[in-house]
Amino acid sequence: MNIADQPAKAVKTLPDAQVVTEVQHYTDRLFRFRVTRPQSLRFRSGEFVMIGLMGDNGKPLLRAYSIASPAWDDELEFYSIKVQDGPLTSKLQHIQVGDEVILRPKPVGTLVHDALLPGKRLWFFSTGTGIAPFASLLREPQTYQDYDEVILTHTCRDVAELKYGADLVAAIRADEMLAELIGEGFAEKLRYYPTTTREQSPKMGRITDLLRDGTVFADLGIDTIDAGHDRAMVCGSMGLNTDMKEILEGFGLREGANSDPAEYVVEKAFVG
Ligand code: A2P
Repeated sequence: MNIADQPAKAVKTLPDAQVVTEVQHYTDRLFRFRVTRPQSLRFRSGEFVMIGLMGDNGKPLLRAYSIASPAWDDELEFYSIKVQDGPLTSKLQHIQVGDEVILRPKPVGTLVHDALLPGKRLWFFSTGTGIAPFASLLREPQTYQDYDEVILTHTCRDVAELKYGADLVAAIRADEMLAELIGEGFAEKLRYYPTTTREQSPKMGRITDLLRDGTVFADLGIDTIDAGHDRAMVCGSMGLNTDMKEILEGFGLREGANSDPAEYVVEKAFVG
């Protein structure tokens, strides 16, 4: 929807306000929304910004949210948890098209291509809403230009929580613009490995366990992780991040940063 089509209440009244253009609820714990993009906002796919609402005390209530849309998109997309007693998300989950959210236009983050040394295979390891920065990077042409193979793993409690990622992967594989930019066949570079931990699905288990016992490599028909050509980005709960660091370092990968690129990077997903 164009801003010009918005109802009268969409007139911006807050500083740094953006207008909600789309909301989609997945489960009672997860939803996605899109907002207008400030014209001046430049960011690298994978970065996060502070967004939120005006609190009852008249002060902005802001949290870090990964931008789930790619850097070239006209709008900004976010993927959020709903915490019923969470200070922000208990309110944010009720936003509707035409409402305003506050967005501080200062993008930052470590889940960016610049923080990794060149490689051949790129892994995105995510749990829950930790898939958000990868939703951005997976729609970024550079991801496929820089790597021969891109593997997205997403672990959630149940099948319904996988829908956002499954829809995303299907849309990317059918994306004609990406195919035109990167070349036919780019879709085969993208491998998708969804797993659930609390409901039966074709692949069950935490990604950490499936890496430790080699199941992931056997399922995908590939060699184990090799620091010479594998690169990784990790985004999820604190537990996932800690465990994945140990696993990746066990394979010889070192943690990188914007100022000091290496073989893997980690960031905590938004939690409350
Ligand atoms: P589990 O069900 O075994 O806790 P949440 O919705 O709580 O953020 O969790 C999202 C997914 O992340 C769940 O499937 C959860 O599995 C999984 N998970 C939680 N901690 C870890 C961890 N340390 N390593 C791998 N997966 C994890």
